[in-house]
Amino acid sequence: MVDPLSPRPVIQVVSGLETSDGAGVRLTRVIGGPQLPMLDPFLLLDDFRSDDPEDYIAGFPAHPHRGFETVTYLLAGRMRHRDSAGHSGVIAAGGVQWMTAGRGIVHSEMPEQEDGLLAGFQLWVNLPATEKMRAPRYQELDAAAIPVERRPGVELRVIAGTSGGGITGPVRELITPVTYLDVTLDAGSDFREPLPSAWNALLYVIEGAVTVAGRPLAARQLARLGEGDGVALRAEAPSRLLLIAGHPLNEPVARHGPFVMNTEEEVRQAFHDYQAGRF
Ligand code: FE2
Repeated sequence: MVDPLSPRPVIQVVSGLETSDGAGVRLTRVIGGPQLPMLDPFLLLDDFRSDDPEDYIAGFPAHPHRGFETVTYLLAGRMRHRDSAGHSGVIAAGGVQWMTAGRGIVHSEMPEQEDGLLAGFQLWVNLPATEKMRAPRYQELDAAAIPVERRPGVELRVIAGTSGGGITGPVRELITPVTYLDVTLDAGSDFREPLPSAWNALLYVIEGAVTVAGRPLAARQLARLGEGDGVALRAEAPSRLLLIAGHPLNEPVARHGPFVMNTEEEVRQAFHDYQAGRF
């Protein structure tokens, strides 16, 4: 493992905004709200978890996407998805769906169970201008397909990208290069992980408490990381977190709801195409 030489500082701490989306799913919006509208190339990060079906059972009925990717990672429960082209499947606990919406899909995302815990995340990854109108594509992986790297006091699930220990996640041919790690830590353990210094990086505490570069972070807080070549942190309690980094696109962003393009004209075109049934 290559140790980071200069760990990244914390430059912003974001507590998510409680909101609802879809047909009334209660969730915490961590990226995509007023505190952190985006972190190039990431456009949105939602954390949904509840054991009350009233919070999630209405799901996300048919809705469109154009111009980016949605990454759904489930920790508990099941989510059935179905799109206008006839593609469907179920994401189960520990599984991930990496969907490249490209020029457009219309799909539904519905919890399959009627009681019990539903927990997971949806991350939106922007696509570069040259790839926004590409054909849609899915990568779907169940829990068994996601490799686990074990270090003393640390379990690292590598969903995308390559870990410091040299394990590469199963999501392949990433259009926008991204590292997506799910890290479980024993209390008192230290965790160090290199990250490409030119990438934007964030850490989101799912549960527990950690200290990053002298900054304490509680559950459901996001730390936006500054310049450096890696991250170094300590778990103050048994903890679990997401560590996500991506190559910034540095392109203009025009977004409205489920359409994320480079210009307002392209967003208007997306509305027209959707209303005309061209997705
Ligand atoms: Fe969606």
